[in-house]
Amino acid sequence: MKKTSVSDLHVHGFRIQPESRGRLLRQTPAILWFTGLSAAGKSAIADKVEALLHASGQLTYILDGDSIRLGLCKDLGFADADRHENVRRVAEIAKLMADAGLVVLVCLISPFRRDRELARSTAGRHRFAEIHVHASLAVAEARDPKGLYRLARTGAIQHFTGIDSPYEQPTVPDVFIDTCSKSIDEGADLVVKWLNSR
Ligand code: ADX
Repeated sequence: MKKTSVSDLHVHGFRIQPESRGRLLRQTPAILWFTGLSAAGKSAIADKVEALLHASGQLTYILDGDSIRLGLCKDLGFADADRHENVRRVAEIAKLMADAGLVVLVCLISPFRRDRELARSTAGRHRFAEIHVHASLAVAEARDPKGLYRLARTGAIQHFTGIDSPYEQPTVPDVFIDTCSKSIDEGADLVVKWLNSR
């Protein structure tokens, strides 16, 4: 069967646009993209940011790697191509949720610069923040809350980020949080300040 090509598609010009939904909700839709090593603190900081935004009356949603990989991306593994597809799908979902008016918090290792750049252009540059949650490999490995670094070191799991799969550090993130020197609460405050300064 012939694959659908872009020229076969005709996008309907619906009346209600993303800006109108944001106005209805009295908030500015945004995509906060948390990237960093496993155990760097992405989910913990996003959880705190969401709690602060929720308390101030904003409608939010967290797309977290471990949950997404149980459903939407359960067919994907951790080879480079799979991570690329993981990021691509989550960026598309984040875009739809931001179009629906939400503040979307994405927690994915998303180790490749090229994929994060794709996420930014998919989601919309004007409403996207790359948040680098940094911990050195030594610190992340010492934390090892899920025991995965230990398994990766013994070779029981492969392609583990930081061990036998690369993590490309963001060069100019919108927000940088070093969780070796900052608490979860301090990190969350930096993100909320960034949002408020827009
Ligand atoms: S990403 O690289 O494709 O962005 P994602 O954030 O979805 O990764 O998933 C990372 C989570 O999967 C980690 O927090 C960890 O719990 C789990 N995991 C299992 N195997 C691996 C692996 N080989 N590399 C990294 N994370 C893994």
